[in-house]
Amino acid sequence: MATKPASDPSLSLYRLLDPAVLADPYPLYARLREEDPVHWDPFLHCWVVTRYDDVHLVLKEFSADRTPSPDQLRALGITGIEPIAELMVRQMLFLDAPKHTHLRKLCSTAFTPRRVELLEARIEAIADRLIDRVAPTGRMDVINDFAAPFPSIVFAALLGVPEEDHVQLKRWSADFAEMLGNFQHNIDRIAQVLRSTAEMVDYFRRAIEEEDRPLADGLLKSLVEAEVDGERLSIDEVIANAIVTMVGGQETTTNLIGSGLLTLMRQPDHLAELRDRPELLETGVEELLRYESPSQHTGRICREDTQLGDRVIGKGEAVMAVMAAGNRDPRRFADPDALDLSRADNRHLAFGWAAHFCFGAPLARMEGRIAFRKLLERMPNVALAADTLEWRENLGLRGLKALPVRFDS
Ligand code: HEM
Repeated sequence: MATKPASDPSLSLYRLLDPAVLADPYPLYARLREEDPVHWDPFLHCWVVTRYDDVHLVLKEFSADRTPSPDQLRALGITGIEPIAELMVRQMLFLDAPKHTHLRKLCSTAFTPRRVELLEARIEAIADRLIDRVAPTGRMDVINDFAAPFPSIVFAALLGVPEEDHVQLKRWSADFAEMLGNFQHNIDRIAQVLRSTAEMVDYFRRAIEEEDRPLADGLLKSLVEAEVDGERLSIDEVIANAIVTMVGGQETTTNLIGSGLLTLMRQPDHLAELRDRPELLETGVEELLRYESPSQHTGRICREDTQLGDRVIGKGEAVMAVMAAGNRDPRRFADPDALDLSRADNRHLAFGWAAHFCFGAPLARMEGRIAFRKLLERMPNVALAADTLEWRENLGLRGLKALPVRFDS
């Protein structure tokens, strides 16, 4: 590996571990974008790119194949986490073409926009039911009463598994998400993540293979039956990709709703605007995704020596593409730190770009529109009911631990 440029330690993404930086990472991202847009982070041992055009290029051109296989782990002397690697190497998120193209095509036949549309009335009913439970009290913890259970109940419906399983699905997803969103892994948590992974794989395998209980209509059944050019997914591929689809859609949607509502409560004029003009929900949800991106960054591997700005990224080196920083780049967005719910030119990076563009974006957008409409309609005069807020330590999947609010009941 070539000698790396000297780096200013105050630009390291590790600073996100400081709660004050985590509460508002945008000044750090702005410094990175302006002072060292292609930054070598010696603490993370990877490049960090923050300008819109560079993030875009990395997502489009670099390799997504970044998960060591179980054999590679063993060769490195790392044992014990092979079951997690077994899953990840089969998940579309971590594969390149042609394997990725094939897998995504097969999964797409099972996850059509039509299937999502059919769920709309059910999703609305789920949102209402969750609000009904707390409406008479005039108080809600938006994360734990609404934003966390909402996508997991929706996902149970989508999968075609019993609704009451959503609590379990949510717990497994949260554990597995630690592997997806994080670059700082807590060794003490590995045993729990392994346990959850084993239980989750077992749950899906039983649902698929149990002979006396045929699969209900839903995503799982469609994945098992999906066929393109006479080829089907193996059972292991069905399980791995049902899991990445479930996990990919949980914390992210929770955080879109939680961070989005916090943003609106901090800017009451915009909150009133969205409540009074529901026709703004479509552009409003896109703007909230840009402004407080639930998935802040993702990783890639450089395929061959590549000049980016005045730096050369070497073949095989890791790159962190910070979508949340690209989404505030003044070179791309007018007045990027201002919230503009009717922003028209808003091709943000919150769902990624190109081959790995979020597979669940149509569902996420619909869930976002329904959630904001229902919450604003049914919580008159909603306001923050906490002096301090805590953000989750998962630095890639940005979101609040809790969001207490009060409203007129
Ligand atoms: C607000 C909600 C969401 C956000 C912000 C989000 C964000 C993203 C991003 C940034 C990527 C690309 C990651 C990369 O390139 O490394 C991605 C991929 C993906 N997302 Fe989402 N997501 C959301 C909701 C969902 C939902 C609801 C589902 C499923 C129901 C889902 C399933 C997936 C899957 C399976 C991939 C991998 C696609 C591939 O590799 O081809 N996501 N998402």
